[in-house]
Amino acid sequence: MYQQSLIDPKDDITSLQSAFLRRKTAQARKTLGQFFTGSVVSDYMASLINKPDTEIVRLLDAGAGTGILTASTALRCLELGCTTVHAVLYELDSEAIPSLDQTLRIVQNTFNQQHGIFSFDIRCEDFVLARPDKDKHIRRFDVSVINPPYFKYNVKNSPYAKAAADLYHGDPNIYASFMAIAMASIKDGGQMVTITPRSFTNGLYFKGVRSYLLTRSALDLVHIFKHRNKVFKNNDSAVLQENIICRFIKGKEHKTVTVRSSDCDARIYNAEEEKYPLELIIDSSNDQRIIRIPESSYEANILRQAEAFPTTFEGAGYFISTGPVVEHRTQEYITEDTSTPDSVPLYRPHNITPLTVTWTGTHKKELSFKLNIGHEKHTIKNGTFVLLKRFSSKDEKRRLVSGVYLESTHNCKVIGFGNKTNYIGVKGEKLTKVEAYGLAAVFNSSFIDKYFRCISGNTQVNATEIRVMRFPTREQVKQIGEQAQQLKTIETNKIDLLVNPVLGVMHSDQQE
Ligand SMILES: C[S@@+](CC[C@H](N)C(=O)[O-])C[C@H]1O[C@@H](n2cnc3c(N)ncnc32)[C@H](O)[C@@H]1O
Repeated sequence: MYQQSLIDPKDDITSLQSAFLRRKTAQARKTLGQFFTGSVVSDYMASLINKPDTEIVRLLDAGAGTGILTASTALRCLELGCTTVHAVLYELDSEAIPSLDQTLRIVQNTFNQQHGIFSFDIRCEDFVLARPDKDKHIRRFDVSVINPPYFKYNVKNSPYAKAAADLYHGDPNIYASFMAIAMASIKDGGQMVTITPRSFTNGLYFKGVRSYLLTRSALDLVHIFKHRNKVFKNNDSAVLQENIICRFIKGKEHKTVTVRSSDCDARIYNAEEEKYPLELIIDSSNDQRIIRIPESSYEANILRQAEAFPTTFEGAGYFISTGPVVEHRTQEYITEDTSTPDSVPLYRPHNITPLTVTWTGTHKKELSFKLNIGHEKHTIKNGTFVLLKRFSSKDEKRRLVSGVYLESTHNCKVIGFGNKTNYIGVKGEKLTKVEAYGLAAVFNSSFIDKYFRCISGNTQVNATEIRVMRFPTREQVKQIGEQAQQLKTIETNKIDLLVNPVLGVMHSDQQE
């Protein structure tokens, strides 16, 4: 029988969690998506819950681990004067159940001492397959505070594929199913607080779940962390995702969204906070419903200025595609011997620098693409394009790096662009050199980089987000291009001086 010590119950709960984590191998934790919430973040998430207007508060914890979130949330309810709380907890890992049970008994003791009642029901089963929202014997919940597991699954043969297809379309990641099913399990007016990767706020794959959540509830608070690597307790290098905390209120329509940003330590309670109109945070101008997150009022101002641009990237007439060469699938075409006859340059991210792209055939990372039978599926017709890196490393200052590729650079009919690059052109027309330089300058400007960061938390630059970005007109792009084509690579610090006046915006890196 567990004996509660005289110290804060949370210390014991944290010790149980730490002891459990020590017993698991890193591999076992990874398989189950076991990134546990530390006590500061757990208490903070619970503090976002407003007093539920009910006699018995029903809590749902999906992927409960050792129960820290339920503990914080139940104790928060007690603090708010709710003396009767019932928690239902789903946890797949049977090895976690004894520690989970002990945690909940500690909470029970604390309730007892304050003449409250805390009851619980641990379900060692799969939350996604159990679908409590569909179970007629399980009543709806008032509150759900969750840190769901995070992993991708095989859409062809995983039992999770389409397991929540009645709620949303797509199979982006297990955490999306947790969010949707938890949302479906709470009652109207119920509150859901989640800590998840930021990836669901943008990106094509999460469109379905985003739409489900935003239709069923009001997202009224977002908390973003300034540093991505300090959020979870067992902080392995695997957690490179940017994580955010969101509060959703089911069935409510809200006009404002509060955005808080802080470091992930005790300073979490002294976060910078701003309230924004819904339209600024949730882009309703297209069916993507991207959730934009300005980290400061300064960034919000950038977002507002960008919103005033006359068109979108696609609306202006541009296209963006991912380079078609997938290296591991086209090994037989790829050669390091760049002098191979009947081969063309293969452009990869390292060839792209601000404003210019360079392939000399002499750098050790440079490759050529042999024009063997069937190459047409992987090469594209030679022409002038703007190349935009698809991935930036997390330490890179700029998320967007783009350079001009000129048709005249190589005397060849087709050209190779790797799939870690995006290539940009004008729909139905040839891109001119001037316009190409204008586009590259726009993408390399610090204003557009900041704007893009409000839209996307990924280090990956997806074509989907670029397509729906607000964008200058082609005339403005050409105007910028006239001057940008005179710039030398080392003068990229002058790009803002060319771009800002034409776009009518005020921003430079120095202003932050
Ligand atoms: C990210 S951890 C969070 C644990 C705990 N809630 C916390 O915040 O510390 C996710 C938990 O979900 C559990 N889990 C993974 N897949 C699950 C599933 N399909 N159904 C229920 N639990 C699952 C994992 O074992 C893990 O304990």
